[in-house]
Amino acid sequence: MFSYRHAFHAGNHADVLKHTVLIATLEYLKQKEVALSLIDTHAGNGLYRLDGDFAQTSNESASGIQQLLAYAANATEPLTPAVQQYLDQITSFNGEIKPGTKRIVYPGSPALLQHLMRPQDQLHLFELQPADMRALQGNMAQGPFANHTHVWHADGFKDSLKFLPPPSRRALVLCDPSYELKTDYGQVAQWLSDALRKFATGTYIIWYPVIPRPEAHELPRKLKTIARQAGKSWLHATLAIKTGGKSGVQLPGERAERTGMVASGVVVVNPPFVLREQLQQALPELVKALGQDHVAAHTLESSA
Ligand SMILES: C[S@@+](CC[C@H](N)C(=O)[O-])C[C@H]1O[C@@H](n2cnc3c(N)ncnc32)[C@H](O)[C@@H]1O
Repeated sequence: MFSYRHAFHAGNHADVLKHTVLIATLEYLKQKEVALSLIDTHAGNGLYRLDGDFAQTSNESASGIQQLLAYAANATEPLTPAVQQYLDQITSFNGEIKPGTKRIVYPGSPALLQHLMRPQDQLHLFELQPADMRALQGNMAQGPFANHTHVWHADGFKDSLKFLPPPSRRALVLCDPSYELKTDYGQVAQWLSDALRKFATGTYIIWYPVIPRPEAHELPRKLKTIARQAGKSWLHATLAIKTGGKSGVQLPGERAERTGMVASGVVVVNPPFVLREQLQQALPELVKALGQDHVAAHTLESSA
């Protein structure tokens, strides 16, 4: 258990999709002054070096953030706002990024949230893997708003619910498990039901891998049903970068069917009303930037 390490995957196409959606959603929610509780149920290290040993083993960022940076460097037209916002964040951790360099610091969701939060906001991060937990603590202690950042060595499925409803009645919650355990799929659905029961008006972003497993296939349908039954709106987006296959390196903690994952999705419950339009523009651009063959595609659907 807990052999999954996000450092092997940081900056891959799934991170590009998830973090683009996360930033666009948070930027919208920040338009209101009222404080936000930001909760990341499965945090990872928080910050990664793409020239580090873990990232180099898999080299997944080559078909993710590095490919997007190369695309942006050669773009003759302005990028779509959500993609530009995402790249602005990556740049803000690095300064100028030289073309082709792997000397890139990649901010995971905790670092992005900490970087974007305001003095009135609180950030709660959950991580169970001991080494990742220690790295997370160190990385977050050096960031802005460290005294508003709470790192918990605890089960994000269970303990995140203790912070709902938040005092200000406004929250953005990211649920981004490793799906290392088959039971994670069921736990995500149960967690969303419980979270909506405790705090129906929060904004919830749930990431999942698009892989040939019945549980993975079923998950977005289940999440949409849970949202609908709670009377809440939802948005569902996927990004596939190429034909599916198991051609990748099987890494420690990796389920065989996730090896060489080529597509992933996010379900957002109570999404900002502008998110659909933003992703309608951004997703085709991500397909253009990251797509490797004719199967590269996106999908986008929503309840309204
Ligand atoms: C996909 S990674 C998170 C990546 C991160 N959200 C990001 O976008 O940068 C999932 C993390 O969840 C951790 N984890 C696994 N089960 C957990 C649980 N029940 N509660 C909290 N963390 C858990 C893993 O150790 C791993 O670091």
